[in-house]
Amino acid sequence: MSSSSPSKQDVRNEKWSPGIWRNYPALQQPQYRSADGLSAVRDKLATLPPLVTSREISELKAALADAQEGRRFLLHAGDCAERFSDCTTAQIVNRIKVLRQMGLLLAHGLRKPIVKIGRFAGQYAKPRSSDWEERSGARLPSYRGDIVNGSTFDHEAREPEPGRLLDAYAHAAMTMNYTRALAADGLSRFDDPLNWPLDWVERSSKATHYLRTISEVIAQAENPAQGRAAFPYAQDADRIYSSHEALLLEFEEPVTRENANRGGWFNASTHMPWIGLRTNDLDGAHVAYSSGIENPIGVKVGAGTTPASVLQLIERLNPRQEAGRLTLITRMGHSKIAASLPPLLQAVRVTGYKVLWVLDPMHGNTEESSTGFKTRRFEAIHSEIEQAFQIHAAEGVPLGGIHLELTGEHVTECVGGASGIREADLSRAYKTAVDPRLNYEQSLELAMLIGQAANASRNTADLAAVPA
Ligand code: PEP
Ligand code: CO
Repeated sequence: MSSSSPSKQDVRNEKWSPGIWRNYPALQQPQYRSADGLSAVRDKLATLPPLVTSREISELKAALADAQEGRRFLLHAGDCAERFSDCTTAQIVNRIKVLRQMGLLLAHGLRKPIVKIGRFAGQYAKPRSSDWEERSGARLPSYRGDIVNGSTFDHEAREPEPGRLLDAYAHAAMTMNYTRALAADGLSRFDDPLNWPLDWVERSSKATHYLRTISEVIAQAENPAQGRAAFPYAQDADRIYSSHEALLLEFEEPVTRENANRGGWFNASTHMPWIGLRTNDLDGAHVAYSSGIENPIGVKVGAGTTPASVLQLIERLNPRQEAGRLTLITRMGHSKIAASLPPLLQAVRVTGYKVLWVLDPMHGNTEESSTGFKTRRFEAIHSEIEQAFQIHAAEGVPLGGIHLELTGEHVTECVGGASGIREADLSRAYKTAVDPRLNYEQSLELAMLIGQAANASRNTADLAAVPA
């Protein structure tokens, strides 16, 4: 961390390099014991081949530029904290399956192509509200994600270990490799009718509607020739981009490469890095680093983020007003969004600045269950989604995507939804390393409800536009 921060004027005049962040206050960074060990790891990382290409990054940026204008919709979803142990055949397949099936359901509901970005292949670093964790009187450094330390509550595991940066890159590479291999084979096997377990739907009060939606989607997916004509939204169906929170800057710096052909610097470990709420300070290290890379970037904004700071973030992170460059991910919470979101949308709208607005209905809706689990209520998540579509429609600003924490596994971490998970069920399959995720069934159900919420807001907007 620098002892004196440069002024805003210095920031603008300084020549950007991937190590520029070292001149700024860097929150949420671990303290490594071995500076030599860390520097050897950084040198090694700098020599390794990229996980993504600058061409893919530019293609994603173009797709996000479309989403910004309301012509496509972004599904940005995956683990809260990806673990190295999640790098298995089954989990990769299940992740693709849930993203792919949600993509089809969203395309059906929203009548537009869905751009899919996973929180995976690098989502290994976590911000924590406290540097320390206490259990029965013992105090140890908090778990900061597999890229930093281990989650086991003992001294050895919690010590930040530089070698984990290389392990993270290797696991991200293996995850990307298999994801790409399955994509190259064609992902349509994941839409096979046998691949849609539906017993949970039958238990729902909305069973008729859900079954009709799913059978329409399956029919279209099963018959691609006819499907593509009748359902021209298969455009992005075979692609899944990667993303992670660019939190651990000792990792992000050496994986950032200059591309002479395309011009500029690219974070070559992921298509779309994002800046978390806790590190979105305008004059902090994360914004300084992100300002100079060519990747599309996301920034989380919350109920406490002011309109003035949103405008400053836009000016700092997208000074050339490049389409698709900047995604603002709002995470207010269902009880705060009605008051907190409109002023941000209005402030940006009057400037004419273009950003992609995406809703994260997860992080403002975390609570503790009576049984002591960190959980989220499906109904709260759904309510924030319905409100967001209404607010965006009323302000005339497209809601261009959704950001979710979910898994293709049958976990019990969030309560509610048609499959009826109750607080008493949470202990059955609570597996997340940090935040509670929607399970496979809850994810599919939410994809259908997002389509409904979008259509309801369109109807409200149309009614409002009808002259009296
Ligand atoms: C996250 O996305 O996992 C996260 C930590 O979110 P936020 O920065 O919005 O708190
Ligand atoms: Co989270």
